[in-house]
Amino acid sequence: MYSLEELKHFIHQAAKDLEVSREPKELYQPIQYVFQTGGKRLRPVLSLMACNLFNDQVDQAVMPALGLEVFHNFTLLHDDIMDGAILRRNQTTVHEKWDQNIAILSGDVMAIMAYEYITDCPVDILPEVIRIFNITARSVCEGQQYDMNFEKQLNVSTEDYLLMIEKKTSVLLAACLQIGALIGGAPKPDAEQLYDFGLNLGMAFQLQDDILDSFGNPELFGKEIGGDIKSNKKTWLLIKALEMANPGDKKELVKLLAGTNRDDDGKVDKILSLYNKLGIKELAEKLVQFYFSKTRTSINNVKVPEKRKLFLRELTDSLMNREK
Ligand code: IPE
Ligand code: IPE
Ligand code: MG
Ligand code: MG
Ligand code: MG
Repeated sequence: MYSLEELKHFIHQAAKDLEVSREPKELYQPIQYVFQTGGKRLRPVLSLMACNLFNDQVDQAVMPALGLEVFHNFTLLHDDIMDGAILRRNQTTVHEKWDQNIAILSGDVMAIMAYEYITDCPVDILPEVIRIFNITARSVCEGQQYDMNFEKQLNVSTEDYLLMIEKKTSVLLAACLQIGALIGGAPKPDAEQLYDFGLNLGMAFQLQDDILDSFGNPELFGKEIGGDIKSNKKTWLLIKALEMANPGDKKELVKLLAGTNRDDDGKVDKILSLYNKLGIKELAEKLVQFYFSKTRTSINNVKVPEKRKLFLRELTDSLMNREK
């Protein structure tokens, strides 16, 4: 059984062999840039841990896991364009450092690389892996479109939001776990339990991301605090604030959301103080805990000896109070 650090090391080693020293350099340099900045590597680690629940040989799962991480990083390049983000992992985003066209095309080639690596898996499960990945990738696009649609809508419900984050974020974590488990030889029901585990983990993870976007420590979080507020993202925090605000505060909030500039009239500070007044952060944290508790049910249902679940449980627990 491999620890978190050992699994991260496998990913790190495989990432060194990413074919990024190719021509034209304008296409590949941004990929090298985002990969050097690392990130938490959560998705490939989850995939390898899922494999390792069933099998001590994780080598067959390493390339697909790397592919899933490349896919994630591709979505970040395009997401940062869509969100007008200037900072990621404490570094200038690709579209800011180079330009939008570079970020689009480097992202495109990363999507192709992701397919190359993910399909480098045992041939007997290849059709199933491709099927899962295709549904997932399509869902991420759907979620991202809802996320953008909602910027222009005021009447977004918490249910709409939860479905949106399931699509844009949770399904990828879920697919990483399911694919890793299948490569490890998991019986189908166990792989499905791990998919559910990933869905709930993903919900908690995106809710936390939205909390950190408003309340995080900028150095640890590595992204611009208040970015979601600036782009009128209908996060659970904002939806709840709209729901709970008194008529006067609600009117002011709606006015702030109607502005065209990203930070008109000190919008970020004003909305943050409304969140504080209403105790929105604490409410959101309760929902995060709810989804974490659901992950426990799924992992309990996976039929492998308890001691094999240790690292996955530890990783899940460590995510509960994450600051980055
Ligand atoms: C960022 O994902 C996008 C979300 C789904 C919130 P991560 O927080 O996993 O980003 P990195 O890869 O660690 O930078
Ligand atoms: C990210 O949502 C979801 C995807 C990248 C698909 P966010 O827009 O909240 O992610 P960050 O905060 O930019 O990492
Ligand atoms: Mg974003
Ligand atoms: Mg986004
Ligand atoms: Mg975010």
